[in-house]
Amino acid sequence: MKYIGNKSRLIGFIEDCLKEHNINYNNVIVYDLFSGTGSVSEFFLRHNCIVLSCDNMNYAIAEQYRKLYFRKEPKFEELRNIINCEELEDVINYLNNHNGQKRYYYENFCEEGKYHRRFFSERNAMKIDAIREKIDEWKDILPKEKYMFLVGILMNAADFVSNTAGTYGAYLKIWRSMALKEMKLEIPEFIATGKISLYVNDVVEFVKINKTADIVYMDPPYNTRQYPAYFSTLESIVINDKQQLKGKSGLRNYEKQKSKFSIKKYVKEEFKNLVDEIKAKYIVMSYSTEGILNKDYIYDILSKKGKTKIYDVSYRRFKTNSWTENNTNLKELLFICEVR
Ligand SMILES: C[S@@+](CC[C@H](N)C(=O)[O-])C[C@H]1O[C@@H](n2cnc3c(N)ncnc32)[C@H](O)[C@@H]1O
Repeated sequence: MKYIGNKSRLIGFIEDCLKEHNINYNNVIVYDLFSGTGSVSEFFLRHNCIVLSCDNMNYAIAEQYRKLYFRKEPKFEELRNIINCEELEDVINYLNNHNGQKRYYYENFCEEGKYHRRFFSERNAMKIDAIREKIDEWKDILPKEKYMFLVGILMNAADFVSNTAGTYGAYLKIWRSMALKEMKLEIPEFIATGKISLYVNDVVEFVKINKTADIVYMDPPYNTRQYPAYFSTLESIVINDKQQLKGKSGLRNYEKQKSKFSIKKYVKEEFKNLVDEIKAKYIVMSYSTEGILNKDYIYDILSKKGKTKIYDVSYRRFKTNSWTENNTNLKELLFICEVR
């Protein structure tokens, strides 16, 4: 999944810094705060950690149910009497073979629908409608984890064929070739080690309740772009509340999901609130030199908790459709605080 701030390309850098600091990252308890696509949770799972992952967006947590929650293929014995199968492959085939229907996603997210938004081809929008409805019919039959796993698989498949440059603030005027392919649900790869719990929550609320981590890793948004505005379509597919959408891009009402970490007026205080509440051996935090919080402020707040060191690496900026190296001063920072 293309995602603003995805750390998958920086895992090597994060691991090198942990090693240099002599931090044990095997078999320990880790909180991944602002976990997004879960790329950092994935790293810790591969090192057999117990991970608690928190993000305030439902699509982010659905994506992590898809790729991180299960250690091996789950069986769907709850569906045996309904669709005559229980193996994951058969369930996925059953969903893939659904004919489309013209409902909410068709009306809202394809050109032929009522609002003429060209996020998906007509056929794919209809398939999203049919498959999302089918998964919701199973909501009360399946345990939450299996339900969210299927929702995550659908969301990921839809994202793969969306007619966007990676975010949903706008659709493309010209069809991208992938968007014209038929959407296909796919079985993810499973990670055999570790254990993860997933939380849709505000990070400050989360750390008020959870106090058992060895390592707290955090990756706050660093600019004023609000994630719910950029990934609204995916949030709609996951929540499926069929709310009335606004404007050319079909934006959800995201007032309650706005992040204070992306608002200049609040970010300093909110960051301090967060750090104050953390109880852990180490706090590890990613940030960018072009972030709205400045490096010295972060260093001061973390230093009050314990001895803090800053590592950095040159990094390329994420533009929605390409990676560019024109901003050579741009650095990705990693703060490591040894909590007293
Ligand atoms: C830089 S991205 C994280 C990227 C992630 N580390 C990855 O590799 O995909 C920041 C994330 O913070 C989440 N977020 C922003 N404010 C939040 C808050 N107050 N509580 C929980 N999550 C928040 C956003 O939804 C977004 O997924």
